[in-house]
Amino acid sequence: MLVNDKYVPRHKMNFVLCHWLNGISFLMLFITALPLFTDQFQFLYTMFGTATLQNAHRFFAVVFIVTPIIGLLIAREGYAKMFNEVFSFGMDDIKFLIRFPMELLGMHPEGVPKQGFYNGGEKMNIALQMGIWCVMVASGLILWMGSGYLDNSVRAWFIPIHSIAAAIGFAAALAHIYLAVVMYPPSLHGMKDGTITAKYAKSHHGKWVDELVDDGEISQGELKKALGK
Ligand code: HEM
Repeated sequence: MLVNDKYVPRHKMNFVLCHWLNGISFLMLFITALPLFTDQFQFLYTMFGTATLQNAHRFFAVVFIVTPIIGLLIAREGYAKMFNEVFSFGMDDIKFLIRFPMELLGMHPEGVPKQGFYNGGEKMNIALQMGIWCVMVASGLILWMGSGYLDNSVRAWFIPIHSIAAAIGFAAALAHIYLAVVMYPPSLHGMKDGTITAKYAKSHHGKWVDELVDDGEISQGELKKALGK
């Protein structure tokens, strides 16, 4: 059933909570590590104190590590959906990705296939961020806990691995934030109260909306009313 005759339920609130814990901890990890990337950001150490920033980095690392674990317990459905969607990458996703750059440039290319719960770009973002999570957590734990067990020359290898993963993840996160805030602001509603307008759902996730109608989760009548048809 639509919420207030207008909104399609999309994400459960526990999933929304995990998204923000993941997003905020990732961005804070990046900010607290900036002085390690380049001397230009040494002023952050002067401003907040080196030890404070280093402890904050470890604090947000713990939040970043435990969020998906908590997510699997309290937002199982949302996480399962992400896993399933990533592993169901098909022709419609490829066709979407080929036409997506034109859409970004404000053109409305012909032949964009209806997209499911996540579109081809979102699926790639999920896969990339999952990979980045694994590399950052593994390399970070080795750097954090490894002293005493591992030779310093071995640990040194994990510094560039950790930094490169962080840089790729940050670049992808910037693109993700740009798309959400600038290109598709109606998607943000889903990360606020878990619902998106029927209009946005139909135009961006048409295949998913068709499935909801087929499964009887929303009726054809209420959908038409919400779309003003
Ligand atoms: C303040 C910044 C952020 C905003 C405004 C934002 C916004 C959003 C929105 C609106 C969605 C829902 C998309 C949908 O329902 O189809 C979403 C999903 C998601 N977000 Fe974020 N997000 C932010 C930060 C981050 C960060 C930093 C990460 C990763 C490190 C991240 C990872 C994800 C993932 C993996 C998804 C699921 C699939 C996708 O849409 O790509 N987000 N985000």
